[in-house]
Amino acid sequence: MPWQTKKVFFEKYVFNVWENVYEPAEDSLLFAQNLQVKNNSEVLDMGTGCGILGIIAAKNASKVVAVDINPYAVRCAKENAKSNKVLNKMFFVRGDLFAPFRTRVKFDVILFNAPYLPSENIEVKNWLESAWSGGINGRQIIDRFICEAPKHLKRKGCILLMQSTLSKVDETLSRFEQKRLRTKIIAERALPFFETLVLIKAAN
Ligand SMILES: C[S@@+](CC[C@H](N)C(=O)[O-])C[C@H]1O[C@@H](n2cnc3c(N)ncnc32)[C@H](O)[C@@H]1O
Repeated sequence: MPWQTKKVFFEKYVFNVWENVYEPAEDSLLFAQNLQVKNNSEVLDMGTGCGILGIIAAKNASKVVAVDINPYAVRCAKENAKSNKVLNKMFFVRGDLFAPFRTRVKFDVILFNAPYLPSENIEVKNWLESAWSGGINGRQIIDRFICEAPKHLKRKGCILLMQSTLSKVDETLSRFEQKRLRTKIIAERALPFFETLVLIKAAN
């Protein structure tokens, strides 16, 4: 494993996090603690990083598709799926949000711990920056995701999206509602300096 740098532990899972791949942080762990996937669900783990959320979801899911724009993340997540013994249920795709999928590809659950922090840079400089940077207002990726995700949701499906109060949670709720999804905040964690992490559920 040439890029391995750190190990992250969550419950019975161990994740090797390679250089150039987002290291699971408070947002990933809050997400993981509140992740409920019904048996036999088909799950999309958007922005999989080291694979943490998709691999945990694979415990109950029948299939998990893990997507990331970062090629190192896709390879790292695949290795973690192997070492956590869920490789048989998982598929890995490198791509920009939903670009790899036709509209008819649909999931029961779509997960996204998004890049949500406002940044001064319009263009991201490296893979780690693309993991957290949501552009000037923090919403560059979130808004594109909200536009596309509902088309890939099965009936009675749900989207779980992590963001921070620094990138306008109300705007996310109203954009989902414009797409005729019912929204609810299912978990929150306050961080220092007037920021709160928020896990939003949007269901049809
Ligand atoms: C905050 S990290 C979350 C990683 C992991 N899911 C976790 O919770 O630790 C966001 C991830 O989204 C990926 N990403 C950023 N822009 C993307 C895009 N346009 N399409 C797909 N993945 C993207 C990043 O490479 C990164 O792995």
